[in-house]
Amino acid sequence: MMNDLAYVLYTKEQIDEMVQKLARQIERDYEGKDLVCVCILKGGIMFMADLIRAIRIPLTIDFMATSSYGSGTKSAGVVRIIKDLDRDITGKDVIIVEDIVDSGLTLTYLKEYLKSRGAASLKICTLLDKPEGRKVPLQADYFGFTTPNAFVVGYGLDYDEKYRNLPLIGVLKPEVYEKA
Ligand code: IMP
Ligand code: MG
Repeated sequence: MMNDLAYVLYTKEQIDEMVQKLARQIERDYEGKDLVCVCILKGGIMFMADLIRAIRIPLTIDFMATSSYGSGTKSAGVVRIIKDLDRDITGKDVIIVEDIVDSGLTLTYLKEYLKSRGAASLKICTLLDKPEGRKVPLQADYFGFTTPNAFVVGYGLDYDEKYRNLPLIGVLKPEVYEKA
């Protein structure tokens, strides 16, 4: 897998450190609240698993899945819910946990959707933010690294469903998706 990377963007150690930093911010802001962390599958799994273990206040978790890029590297611009929440979020303080915000289309849609489900408050926590990719204005409330406009994989992020199990985040060599 490492041979398919042009370079490593964030090491495991850098990611761990950032996760701790974000967890401290969330703990501070959600003390005494009814926090629900909603992971957006599948890309958010690694970040979610590490983040909730780093947060030292009570919380519950839930999962949603939306339609992805398919096997390409550009957003289709259409968001479809494939898996909905299992539990009612009425009156809860919800944080959406995402791997990356690129065009902003997915989270703009999900924010409206979860608001309509009666959450008391709704914030976004993303590990990576790719501001140059935005098609709609969207600002994450908690974000880790500001990422260059390149296609990245690892730590949950995939290309054609692969590379999610890399413990670090790297830029995929363009020849990997150009030959496909
Ligand atoms: P959006 O374009 O902000 O709607 O992002 C939708 C989803 O596309 C993200 O949650 C990621 O799963 C995926 N995505 C965006 N950029 C990348 C990338 O560089 N590598 C892998 N997946 C990406
Ligand atoms: Mg995703």
